[in-house]
Amino acid sequence: MSIVDKYLRRINRLRISVTDLCNLRCVYCRPESGLDLAQHKDILTYEEIVAVVRHAVKLGIKSFRLTGGEPLFRKNIEYLLRMLGNVHGIEDLAITTNGIFLKDYARVLKEIGLFRLNISLDSLEDSKFERITRGGKLRDVMDGIEEVLRLGFKNTKINIVAMKGINDDEFEEFAKLTLERDLEVRFIEYMAMNKDRLDSEDKYIPMAEIIDIVGKRNDLIALPPPMLGSGAAKIYKIRGAMGILGFVSAVSQPFCNSCNRLRLTSDGKLRSCLLSGGEVDLKTILRNNPTEERLTDAFLRAAHLKPPVHSGKGHVVMHEVGG
Ligand code: 5AD
Ligand code: SF4
Repeated sequence: MSIVDKYLRRINRLRISVTDLCNLRCVYCRPESGLDLAQHKDILTYEEIVAVVRHAVKLGIKSFRLTGGEPLFRKNIEYLLRMLGNVHGIEDLAITTNGIFLKDYARVLKEIGLFRLNISLDSLEDSKFERITRGGKLRDVMDGIEEVLRLGFKNTKINIVAMKGINDDEFEEFAKLTLERDLEVRFIEYMAMNKDRLDSEDKYIPMAEIIDIVGKRNDLIALPPPMLGSGAAKIYKIRGAMGILGFVSAVSQPFCNSCNRLRLTSDGKLRSCLLSGGEVDLKTILRNNPTEERLTDAFLRAAHLKPPVHSGKGHVVMHEVGG
């Protein structure tokens, strides 16, 4: 079986937010203090998450990504990772992480057969990194990245949220990480999370401008988009480099027409779209008579709710949906 939405997009990916908690408070993601987080009883258990994954596989969803908050921040995450490693039929398992705990978990991730990692990294300067993440240590992330490379993970992406006046002076340095490392350094257009936040508009840099800055002193070659996990990225590489560069334009060129995913929130809602559309309460089904029919129906309803193109006006709470 496979799921096709109203606009003939085949749904074959699921992003799973395992927790809305995070050990960091990045300026573009979270307020400095005060945040309504879900109560523990409302968070899906690891067994419930695995039940959703098993059912999704039956519906032709074979590609999964764990997100948060910070997925590696949830207690006993290793238990979930090991269970997922044993689910048959998963073709692609990935994680989005801030990298702070990566050094400790890289080996487990390798053992369970995780395919790919996206690691957030918004500055290569200790003090700036600490400022952007409100307390994170750059060293932890860099150690995590080196460990992942040492273990032979392929297609590792380093995600940089491009912010004018904050890290645009480091774009060339970021790109140089690919010279001798098998990484995709990927620049992401800053998305204003909260319309009334004063600073949001002037931090945004359109993709074309990001590419210009990166290419100022680097000799860039355009490459065709890769097959797996290409998403909406434009791919380049520095001539002679080992890794590649990706540029993601969620704002200037929304890629909704090729969107093939659903999202599971940590409190068990199946969301149709990051920004707009609706959601289906999967948790209630999981906790009351979760028959195959009811689960399938929930997935079909969520797929049906997917809008053709997001309005861009939805109330996005990045830490709830996991980026
Ligand atoms: N703008 C762009 N990307 C964001 N992310 C989180 N918040 C934003 C934002 N405001 C993405 C980044 C980050 C991941 C966790 O989510 O890619 O690395
Ligand atoms: Fe945490 Fe990621 Fe949000 Fe930063 S962007 S606060 S690491 S969830």
